[in-house]
Parts: sequence; structure tokens; C-alpha cells
Amino acid sequence: MKPVRITLTVNGIKRELDVMPNESLLHVLRDRLHIISVKGNCFRGECGICTVLMNGRPVKSCQVLAPEADGSEIVTLEGLVKNGEPSLVQKAFLEEFGYQCGFCTSAFVLLGEWIINNIPNPTEEQIKEVLNAVVCRCTGYQQIIKAIMKAAQWKREGKS
Ligand code: FES
Ligand code: FES
Repeated sequence: MKPVRITLTVNGIKRELDVMPNESLLHVLRDRLHIISVKGNCFRGECGICTVLMNGRPVKSCQVLAPEADGSEIVTLEGLVKNGEPSLVQKAFLEEFGYQCGFCTSAFVLLGEWIINNIPNPTEEQIKEVLNAVVCRCTGYQQIIKAIMKAAQWKREGKS
């Protein structure tokens, strides 16, 4: 197997890397670029802990081969902070205690970003449907849902 050259834009920074054809995007982000908010657990598409945004959509990064991500824009938890200011979803998670051990938090915050950018006035049912993609072992779902509803409301009110 020979390495393949790919280009990724990760949190606004362009990166060129030589990757193996069977290397996962999760491996590239966490182990090669040292973006440690991106976590692995099952490595087979079941837990969703490895979720990142790829071209604006949530993907399970353990299930994306690095060459498939060539040319894409990737956003991780770190990329949500602008000029030192957390995003609305990050602020809402803090206010609503939308985390316990924190292992799943990055994935849920990124799903929350997708929700508030794509469903302006989400119902609890719509949020639950999206959150189904990630497993929280601490089962803190209710506070996560409340946080995402709050962030969506702030966005509607024009808060930044
Ligand atoms: S580590 Fe990717 S889905 Fe579990
Ligand atoms: S907060 Fe612990 S796994 Fe979700």
C-alpha cells in the first residue's frame, strides 16, 4: 500500500498530509494532528463519539477513510471558538450542565451546532432524532437537549 497525499482544511487551517489508503479520518485528526477533542471508542460506527463536522455535516470520523476526506472542511470542538469566545452551543452546554464525564461532549456539541444551523426552531423530538447518533454512557441526555434548545433560542434572538 502506498501513501496518498490529501489536503484538509481543519478548523480553518489548511493541512497537507500523506495518509495510508486505509487510515481513518479519526486517526488523522487525533493521532497525527493531535486534535484531542476528537475521541475514539468503538471504532466501528456504533457510538458516535468520534463525530466531527465534514463540509458542515456530522460524520463518524472512524468510518471515513482519510482519502475520502480529501478537499473537505473539517470542524472539531476547537474550531467553534472564535476570537476566544465559545459558540452559542458551547455556552449553553456550560449553562445547562450538558455534560458529566465529558467523554461524549465534543460529539454532542457538534451535533448541536448542526441542529441550530439547520433547524431554526427545533422540537425536542427533532433534537432527540439527531442525538440518536451518539451514545452518552453517563445518560445525561435531558440536559444536553435543554442546552441545544437554549442555544437555538439564543440564535433566533440574535445573541452571539
Ligand atoms: S468511535 Fe466512531 S462511532 Fe464509535
Ligand atoms: S457525559 Fe459521560 S459519556 Fe456522556
